[in-house]
Amino acid sequence: MTVEIIEPHGLCAGVDAAVARALRLRDVYCLHGLVHNEIITGDLRDLRFKFVESVEDVPKGGTVVFSAHGVGPSVRRAAKDRELTVVDATCPFVDRVHRAARSFAKRGMPVAIICDPAHVEARGIADEVLDLPDGRALVPENGLLSDWPGGSGPAKGLEGRKIGVVAQTTMNADDVERCVAVLRGKYDIESSADVCAATKDRQNAVRRFAKTHHGEGSRVLVLGSPSSSNCRRLAEIARECGTGSLLAGTMDEVRALDLNGVDVLGVTSGASTPERFFTEAVRYLRNVPRHVAIVMDGNGRWASQRGKKRGEGHVAGAETLSKVLEWCGDRGIAYLTVYAFSTENWKRPKAEVDGLMSLFARMLKLKGGDFVRKKVRFRMIGRRGDLSKGLLATIEELERRTAGFERQFIVAISYGGRAEIVDAVNEAIRRGEPMTEETFSRCLYAPDVPDPDLVIRTSGELRTSNFLLWESAYSEYYFTDVLWPDFSESDLDKALESYASRHRRMGGV
Ligand code: FPP
Repeated sequence: MTVEIIEPHGLCAGVDAAVARALRLRDVYCLHGLVHNEIITGDLRDLRFKFVESVEDVPKGGTVVFSAHGVGPSVRRAAKDRELTVVDATCPFVDRVHRAARSFAKRGMPVAIICDPAHVEARGIADEVLDLPDGRALVPENGLLSDWPGGSGPAKGLEGRKIGVVAQTTMNADDVERCVAVLRGKYDIESSADVCAATKDRQNAVRRFAKTHHGEGSRVLVLGSPSSSNCRRLAEIARECGTGSLLAGTMDEVRALDLNGVDVLGVTSGASTPERFFTEAVRYLRNVPRHVAIVMDGNGRWASQRGKKRGEGHVAGAETLSKVLEWCGDRGIAYLTVYAFSTENWKRPKAEVDGLMSLFARMLKLKGGDFVRKKVRFRMIGRRGDLSKGLLATIEELERRTAGFERQFIVAISYGGRAEIVDAVNEAIRRGEPMTEETFSRCLYAPDVPDPDLVIRTSGELRTSNFLLWESAYSEYYFTDVLWPDFSESDLDKALESYASRHRRMGGV
């Protein structure tokens, strides 16, 4: 099965800003979900957010977050009456619709709202109109307008009146256009109905994919919560275009998908779906390892084959490493661990050891800014006490600066698998806990990092050389004759293809 990423996909600027803002808060109340996404809701619950359906549920004087979907003036007033501190995370596009609706209503026009009347965004827009003394909100129903919230049959008394038209930002852009055309044929309208650009772009991308892939073996997978209007629209659009569609909001749902008979799977996500879920799902679907570990071997041979000094081989190896880190990021690999210097490497000539240590310090100083910009967490595993104060300070400073990031780059320096086990035993004894595999694992250098799925070794050597002895118990191994400085993007892909073709039984059947 080919997994194609449909671009653009995912988080829009409005949601991104709302989430970033919310993540700085603790212990607050949030009116409805911040956005319709269970993963984001879970993150916020971890920050002690309490989700309420009315401002009346927020204790007087408390802090309330208005969600990206916005609220109408009656809610703002109620919040003021309760003396609440308001953090307004309303998306600027939603805000624009509110202003358009209010301006129509202020001009004495009834306002038709193309929407799902049960959606919280639609209710906020309607409130903007109904809050005015003569405000009249309408909804299109079977090509005619009904009084808000619909279901009451065609509205009376609209003859000779100009009607303002707005739309919920997450509707199907084509449906909105069609609806405006129908209303124009029957009423005197002034339309400001437009779904937001991010929603439209994601919908058009699905249409483009569906145009070229609409056979039996094609599907569009929308990653996002079923409660999200814009995600449901994406799935609907794929179906309308003749491509089967699937919707999954969690990794468990992704794992449970029935993909039998699917040859091409287009993957997209809605404007409220976190990118980390998207990356993890695509990695799973493409069978890309979460954690790759590499024994970067062959720098010395590469140099001597070219009549160069061994140190030059290490410099070339460091350049390769920078590229491999990028390529791994592009492929959704969440953890990359590299073996840069073993506990045994101290036996090498002093000049080579000194050269390597200053290469590490130079590279980390040079690349530190890139790690921060690209949100890569840097970590070192190994015996820190063996390193010079200067190098250790550089390492620890970079570890601090990148501590919050999810993607990880782990460098093993003065590292030995046996040394790590011995250090872990001593730590376990110090902690005085009963010794089990779990308690022991918690004493390793990076206990929170999952075991490597794939270990690559370059330069044709068929050994583990004391690398991640405990952690690689069930890793897949890939050996290549390529010397590390020559390791290319296609060599990485060959290793990943080999991994993807293996059936990992992990001791089962
Ligand atoms: C093994 O090749 C390689 C090393 C001992 C050093 C690897 C280090 C780098 C690639 C630089 C990494 C930089 C950072 C910042 C982590 P070898 O010398 O054993 O080669 P040979 O087997 O051909 O002699």
